[in-house]
Amino acid sequence: MSRLGIIGGSGLAKLENLKITKREMVQTPFGEPSGPLVTGMLGGHQVTFLSRHGYGHTIPPHKINYRANIWAFKELEISNIVAAAAVGGIRQDMAPGKLSVPDQIIDYTYRREGSYFDGGDSGVEHIDFTYPYSNRLRQLLISAAANADIDIADTGVYGVTEGPRLETAAEINKFERDGCTMVGMTAMPEAALARELAIDYVTCAFVVNWAAGRSETIIDMKEIEKYIQIGTKQLRELLIATLPLL
Ligand code: HPA
Repeated sequence: MSRLGIIGGSGLAKLENLKITKREMVQTPFGEPSGPLVTGMLGGHQVTFLSRHGYGHTIPPHKINYRANIWAFKELEISNIVAAAAVGGIRQDMAPGKLSVPDQIIDYTYRREGSYFDGGDSGVEHIDFTYPYSNRLRQLLISAAANADIDIADTGVYGVTEGPRLETAAEINKFERDGCTMVGMTAMPEAALARELAIDYVTCAFVVNWAAGRSETIIDMKEIEKYIQIGTKQLRELLIATLPLL
C-alpha cells in the first residue's frame, strides 16, 4: 500500500515529531494546493502531510483550493488519506474533547468548486457517494483506537457548512433534525473529490466546542483553542497507532 496522506485541519498546521525528508510544491491543473506537501517519517512509517488552511492558517474554509489539494496527493501516487477536522458537537454524546470517525455527510455548502468533472474536456461523470468515507480506513482507525485505548465514536453524521461564520441556534436545530451529529466546514467537497480520484479517504473529527445553542454560553474561542490542543494530541497518538496496521 502507498504511504499515508494526512490532511491537517485547525491546530494541525504541522505534524510534530515528523522527521521531514522532502517538501514538494505540487502544481496542478487547478492551481496551487494550500502549501507544500511534506513527506517524512512518523513513528517509523512514511507519511505525506498537507496543512489544509496553509502553514500560517491563512486560508479560510470557503477559500481552500480543495481540487488542487486532493489532486496534489494523487500526483504523488497517494491512495489513502486521513483528514483531520475540528468540529462542533451537536448530539448529546458529542461533547468537546470527543474524537470520532463519521460515516456519513450532509453537505450544506453552496459556493465551492466541488468536482473534477466540469463538463467539456473534463467530461460528465457521477460518482457513487452512498457511503462517502472509506469503510476500510474507518475500521483501521477504530481498531487502532481500541489498541491504543483511545476513546472514539465509531459513527457520526458530519454536517458541512459554508462558513466562515458559525451557525445560528436554529440552524443547528435544523441540522440535528436532519440527522447531523456534528458540524464543521471542510469535509466537502474534499471527500467527494477524493472519491472522484479513487482515493480512499476518511475523516477523523475532534469536537472542539458545543455547536451553537447547545450550551449555556456562546461559543468561546479560548475554549476552542484548548480543545484543539487536546484533539490534536489525541489525533497524533491515533495516527501513530494506525500506521502499523496499514
Ligand atoms: N461549527 C462549524 N464549524 C466548526 C465548529 C462549529 O461549531 N466548530 C469547529 N468547526
